[in-house]
Amino acid sequence: MNSYRSDFPIFQGNDVIYFDNAATTQRPAAVFDAMKRFNDECNANPLRGLYDWSVRATERYEQARHTVAELIGAARDCEIVFTRNTTESINLIAYSYGLSTLHEGDEIAVSIMEHHSNQLPWRMAAERTGAKIVWIECEPDGTITREEYQSKITERTRIVALTQVSNVLGSTNPIREIADYAHGKGAVMVVDGAQSTPHMPVDVRELGADFFVFSGHKLMGPMGIGVLYGRISLLNAMPPFLTGGEMIESVTRDSLTYAPVPEKFEAGTVNALGAVGLAAAIRYLQDIGFEDIMERERQLTQRLMDGLSALPEVKIFGQKDASRHCGIVTFEVEGCHPHDVASVLDTEHICIRAGHHCAQPLLIHLGVSSTARASLYFYNTEEEVDRFVQAVSCVRRWMGY
Ligand SMILES: Cc1ncc(COP(=O)(O)O)c(C=O)c1O
Repeated sequence: MNSYRSDFPIFQGNDVIYFDNAATTQRPAAVFDAMKRFNDECNANPLRGLYDWSVRATERYEQARHTVAELIGAARDCEIVFTRNTTESINLIAYSYGLSTLHEGDEIAVSIMEHHSNQLPWRMAAERTGAKIVWIECEPDGTITREEYQSKITERTRIVALTQVSNVLGSTNPIREIADYAHGKGAVMVVDGAQSTPHMPVDVRELGADFFVFSGHKLMGPMGIGVLYGRISLLNAMPPFLTGGEMIESVTRDSLTYAPVPEKFEAGTVNALGAVGLAAAIRYLQDIGFEDIMERERQLTQRLMDGLSALPEVKIFGQKDASRHCGIVTFEVEGCHPHDVASVLDTEHICIRAGHHCAQPLLIHLGVSSTARASLYFYNTEEEVDRFVQAVSCVRRWMGY
């Protein structure tokens, strides 16, 4: 049994196999404890009050910002903006940076494997400014070749939007290499870290990311807290996304001055409780260490892929090497609709995702409309993998084939 298991209240006293970690992760008690302490000790509106509770709430909120900045190697805490999730972070960039800098004839290079969250905001920005979306294609295993990205990123490209890890294939993109090329052409690099940050060490400066985004809930934090990292010079020059309380320095009838970053982008009462929970999740993750997390996930993924590969009716998508899946194994069972596969597995208390995974253009590119996806995290166990493979081997029989 996995030694981390007992840290997670949701796993106690049931036999549920939770293999939908790419959608959201489970939370250790340490996260609930930190949130309870915030509620019990200093629940007050941060950044406003001059009394002790509010001051302490502000301190914990800003400490959480520092924890996030350290996790992803940001040079300054103020380069971290808290949002609701990855989706909101990308919308913020598209509405603020995109609408204020794009012009007719400019190009936005977006990979075909992007989650809809890293496509639709760019399509909105393109429609409103007359810029054009250029698709960076990938090979069937998720690889983006040098020839491909170099043919799509040109002097006309202003923004390159790329995920670090595909939420369908689990493949990791060579962000640094592509960022260097994009910068050489004068474009900024927007990196979607929703599927990478929970699983591997991230350093935004080493990656060459101008913007980097992720969601707290995919990293054992609560839902409703997300992160936008932006290079300070870019954030300083950008107009606000939302306006209202706390994002201004002064307002008169005829003038207003915005607050400095990050407050300029955090209008209204912030999700301090969520930020505190996210910081606790990050500390929990750091105590385990990414080396152990990656090795454990590699072993579990290997076991899962070996088990599924032995079933002639199962096809696995993506790369052959388990270490290049980031815990994500997308598959189909011959003759069975993925929704039926997921529903049948649910009767065995197994949770997986089925559908287009909010990446429809990629699925169309792969020639399928829907797949099943099992996604692991370090707290899963060998026993769960074996029970899962055994259940998949019965799916066709259970469905009457
Ligand atoms: C790669 C990727 N980007 C963006 C998202 C959107 O995340 P959220 O729903 O937390 O905004 C997801 C969610 O699955 C994802 O996998």
